[in-house]
Amino acid sequence: MIVVSGIQPTGKPHLGNYLGAIRNYVKLQDEAHANGGQCLIFLADLHALSMPHDPADLHASTLEMVATLVACGLDPAKCVLFNQAQVPQHAELQWLLTGTARMGWLNRMTQWKDKAGKNREGQSVALFTYPVLQAADVLIYQATHVPVGEDQKQHLELARDIAQKFNNDFANEDAPVFTLPEPYIPEEAARIMSLRDGSRKMSKSEPSDMSRINLTDDADTMAQKIKKAKTDPEPLPSEVAGLAERPEALNLVSIYAALAETTPDAVLAEFGGEGFGKFKPAMADLCVAKLGPIRDRFVELKEDREALDAILARGALQARELATPTLDSAYQALGLVRGRPA
Ligand code: TRP
Repeated sequence: MIVVSGIQPTGKPHLGNYLGAIRNYVKLQDEAHANGGQCLIFLADLHALSMPHDPADLHASTLEMVATLVACGLDPAKCVLFNQAQVPQHAELQWLLTGTARMGWLNRMTQWKDKAGKNREGQSVALFTYPVLQAADVLIYQATHVPVGEDQKQHLELARDIAQKFNNDFANEDAPVFTLPEPYIPEEAARIMSLRDGSRKMSKSEPSDMSRINLTDDADTMAQKIKKAKTDPEPLPSEVAGLAERPEALNLVSIYAALAETTPDAVLAEFGGEGFGKFKPAMADLCVAKLGPIRDRFVELKEDREALDAILARGALQARELATPTLDSAYQALGLVRGRPA
């Protein structure tokens, strides 16, 4: 079991990042560690160049995201935690793979189409080749499990296509260069929506801060945001089916269930028939109890620049070592001359 995933180091981490992705990394880290596997989680800072960005912000948010990941339970003793920029093998393999990836494949990527919109000519080349770097990220470690959100499934399929074509074109059948990675989309990975609009994902790009719970919010702020969260006047039903047409209510119940590590039906078994006047304070207490300790660790670690640098340096060292054999095989398979090691 080789788990590999990347996370964009953008903005303030919120509850959606935690319940949707980070908490799942922690589970997989523990599973891989217990089974003698490997778990690599990295900050996709090289991917940030695909969109306009501010270098100072990128630097700060990269460090902030490392602090977040560790505060949420990623343990540098159990997983390899690093940022792409310190492991040049990712960018190197990406170039080798651009010989295999086809323009047509990249043209079909929905993320490219969405982000480029009508202005394809004006986009950076990096936005177009973004999925090739992502393929390199996972193929370089022979990843077997890649935890991602539903929106990244297509990029993983592309990584498989690239690996398959590369193996076909350049490797012997009995000695493939790359393992075909599997997307790992846990069913229970909660899709957390905005507190103001149950049809939109909770997101850092939403203008109103009231729409999300940041992992850095203090207890009063969390309680306030939950109190003001959009709902409807109906009491809660006793089963999830009763929430079909009530996206905001469904979202709050789902958040509660995810934090309590139970099912929405179990939550409704407890709160069915109650109004939000009773449910919201209980939810605020739960949020504070679960997220408070994460915030405290985060706040402490964020200021400890030395510790953060040390975590990333150690992770990068491990990652470079793990990346080298596959990168060497890829160079060799392509007939690139690199001399003999001294
Ligand atoms: N594209 C991913 C996202 O936006 C981040 C990412 C970069 C990634 N490289 C990866 C995810 C490799 C999984 C594996 O969420």
